[in-house]
Amino acid sequence: MSSPSSALPAVANAPVLSAIAAEIGTPVYVYDAALIRTAYRAFADGLASHPHAIHYALKANSTLALVRLLRTSGAQADANSGGEIEVALRAGFIPEQIVFTGVGKTADELDQAVSLGVKAINAESPGELDRIAARAVALSTTVRVALRVNPDIDAKSHPHISTGLKTNKFGMPLAEVRQLYRDHARQPGLEPVGLHIHVGSQITSLEPLTRAAERAVDLGRQLRDDGIGIEHLDLGGGLGISYDGSPVPTIAEYAAAILPAVTGSPFSIVIEPGRALVGAAGVLLATVIDLKQYEGGLRFAVLDTGMTELMRPALYGAYHRIVPIEPRPGDLVPYEIVGPLCESSDIFGRNRMLPPLEVGDRLAILDAGAYGSAMASTYNRRPLPAEVLLDAHNHDATTARRHDGKAWRVIRRRQTIDELLSTEL
Ligand SMILES: Cc1ncc(COP(=O)(O)O)c(C=O)c1O
Repeated sequence: MSSPSSALPAVANAPVLSAIAAEIGTPVYVYDAALIRTAYRAFADGLASHPHAIHYALKANSTLALVRLLRTSGAQADANSGGEIEVALRAGFIPEQIVFTGVGKTADELDQAVSLGVKAINAESPGELDRIAARAVALSTTVRVALRVNPDIDAKSHPHISTGLKTNKFGMPLAEVRQLYRDHARQPGLEPVGLHIHVGSQITSLEPLTRAAERAVDLGRQLRDDGIGIEHLDLGGGLGISYDGSPVPTIAEYAAAILPAVTGSPFSIVIEPGRALVGAAGVLLATVIDLKQYEGGLRFAVLDTGMTELMRPALYGAYHRIVPIEPRPGDLVPYEIVGPLCESSDIFGRNRMLPPLEVGDRLAILDAGAYGSAMASTYNRRPLPAEVLLDAHNHDATTARRHDGKAWRVIRRRQTIDELLSTEL
């Protein structure tokens, strides 16, 4: 377990955040490249004893510069849509480094993946296997496929991000997969090479992940007995991070929990981490734009950022630590930290004990690197926020700014209202 911590992560370094807010404005996402590289290395080191491939789940954050950063760190890619395949290619991945996952894939997306020749399409149903085969035959090619198995394992995560129960829409029931492979995977155009399991996200107990790996190995062996050449087991993503500072399993502990199942098996493993690579590396920086207190009631701090930039609290009731980047002296008092949108769910935190705030103060919402900017919307015609990368290895004098010994650069400028409207006729 990582130790509990009230200390701020390096990315919440106040002087550089103040400098970024002053120059770029808020809301702005700020990521720390060093934290992402360290997390990637932890996966690679943890799994070093077994053949493996770490496919970064672009869905967590597909901002090009971060995807490139993970590619140059050694990652491969897990894409969940045609758009994410395109981002992966533009970030420099070759098709053989991309697995294509997704509970529903359009005909165009299947054509894209089939004609590119991706490393594997993770297929969700017998019908999808048939459609992939038809496209492959039409394009005179063969496609590597891995059927997604629903192992009926409770990830013990939030119901909205648990995917491995038979009541969920994902994959095919474990008990049916052997027959499905026999019936559908031997047809022309298909090369069945893998099994895919992903039981959920923000998983903070390793036992479901161990059990899923064990079930994948058992099933893989049965399929090999049937003469189906399973080569890899894609164990999905799912490792959680600590949003409140309490201990969670480390990446090394995660690796140690899945390795026993696969060690000695004939299978290489693929994993698809997203959150554990980028989640803790990002903060969302905001400005207090209003303060009010009901007579004898709650004290509200309204930010210039809301569920449009970071949807997780509104979507899942997710908790994020919130800290003033330059705390004022004074006693801690309770605040309702809210966004500016006309939605009662647009709340980042209730009853947060913070030093006194004033309009204009900057707050950092921590651990916002995953499922933050990737889920941002333009509701209320709010342009998408800017994004900045802190990276000591960026020596490009033309793009990098420096402050307090830290180099940073804008990796996505704030969308303009003209850009937001540019598709409308
Ligand atoms: C199929 C699949 N793979 C990988 C991931 C990444 O999960 P996480 O960000 O929890 O590691 C997800 C997210 O839910 C997913 O659905």
